[in-house]
Amino acid sequence: MKLTQLIVLLVGLLAFASSQAASPYAGQVKAGEVCAQCHGMKQPGVGSPFPPLAGRDANYLKTALKQYRDKTRVSELMNNIAGSLSDSDINDIVSYYSNVH
Ligand code: HEC
Repeated sequence: MKLTQLIVLLVGLLAFASSQAASPYAGQVKAGEVCAQCHGMKQPGVGSPFPPLAGRDANYLKTALKQYRDKTRVSELMNNIAGSLSDSDINDIVSYYSNVH
């Protein structure tokens, strides 16, 4: 395959990825900016006081974040953090973490 063809293909893939509802790429950036400070990007260190997110069930994570956001699940820290997340932030971040193995 020629280099130009490869570039066209990659640009197309990126456009496709960003047009989808949930983007693990955008999620990775958002997770890196906020969540990773406590939860890590992959597995947190042994003995970490924070629950791991990497590799967890997507529906579980989405439900937990929405519960923190509407305060049906109480945690001072997570209520503050989830309070500023939009549905698309949640979808992006969850699609990142649930796909880390
Ligand atoms: C300052 C540290 C901190 C940051 C930053 C943080 N969290 Fe948390 N997170 C916690 C703590 C502490 C808990 C446990 C709270 C509890 O007891 O419910 C938690 C719990 C969770 C849970 C529930 C896990 C489970 O096993 O039920 C999810 C999901 C979660 N966080 C997602 C996120 C996401 C997504 C972000 C980034 C937008 C984030 N957190 C940022 C500290 C943090």
